[in-house]
Amino acid sequence: MVETIEFLQKRRSVMARNMTAPGPDAAQLRALLGIAARVPDHGKLAPWRFVVLEGDDRAKLGAIAAEALDDDSVADHYERAPCVVAVLACPVAHPKIPRSEMILSAGAVCMTLLIAAQAEGFAAQWLTGAAAYEDAVLKAMGGADGDEIAGFIYLGTAQEAPSERARPELDEIIHFGLKD
Ligand SMILES: Cc1cc2nc3c(=O)[nH]c(=O)nc-3n(C[C@H](O)[C@H](O)[C@H](O)COP(=O)(O)O)c2cc1C
Repeated sequence: MVETIEFLQKRRSVMARNMTAPGPDAAQLRALLGIAARVPDHGKLAPWRFVVLEGDDRAKLGAIAAEALDDDSVADHYERAPCVVAVLACPVAHPKIPRSEMILSAGAVCMTLLIAAQAEGFAAQWLTGAAAYEDAVLKAMGGADGDEIAGFIYLGTAQEAPSERARPELDEIIHFGLKD
C-alpha cells in the first residue's frame, strides 16, 4: 500500500527523553502487542515474551538496574516514557533451528512493535542500555537463564517532532552478485 511505503520512508524514532504521557491504553497496547507477535518465527516456537512496565514497576526496575550497575544515573531511565515494553528473547533447544534465528525473531518483534506504535501515532524508541545485559534486570522481569533482553521499547507521546537523521549511503551497502 502506498501509505505504508510513505510511512516507512519517513518513520523516525523519538528519543525517550522527549516523550511524555499518554502512552497506549490497555486496548491499544494489546493491539500493538498482537501485531508485534505476528513476526516470522522459524518452527512457530514463539521464542519471545513481552513484559509491560508501567507505573511503579518502572522505578522498581530502575532501582534494580542502578544497583546492578552501581550507577544511580540509570535509576529513572524507565520513567522517561509512560509505558516501556521489554521484549525478551527466550530461545529454546531445538534439533534443527539455531538459537540465532530465535534471537533474530525477537529483533523482528521489537521492530514490528516500534513500527506499529509509530504508525498509530505514538512516540517510540528501541533501547537497550547497559542494564539490558544485567542478570538481575532479566530475572526481575521473569527471564530465565539463557533468555536475553532484545530491547526495551519506550512508548509515549512526542514532546517535539524528531528531525531526520543520517542514513547509510545505499551504494556502500548494496552489492549485486558474487564477489569475484
Ligand atoms: C538493539 C538496539 C539497541 C539500542 N540501544 C540504544 C541505546 O541503548 N541507547 C541509544 O541511544 N540508542 C539505542 N539504540 C538506537 C535507537 O533506537 C535510536 O533511537 C535509533 O537509532 C533511531 O532510529 P530511527 O529513527 O531510524 O528509528 C538501539 C537500537 C537498537 C536496534
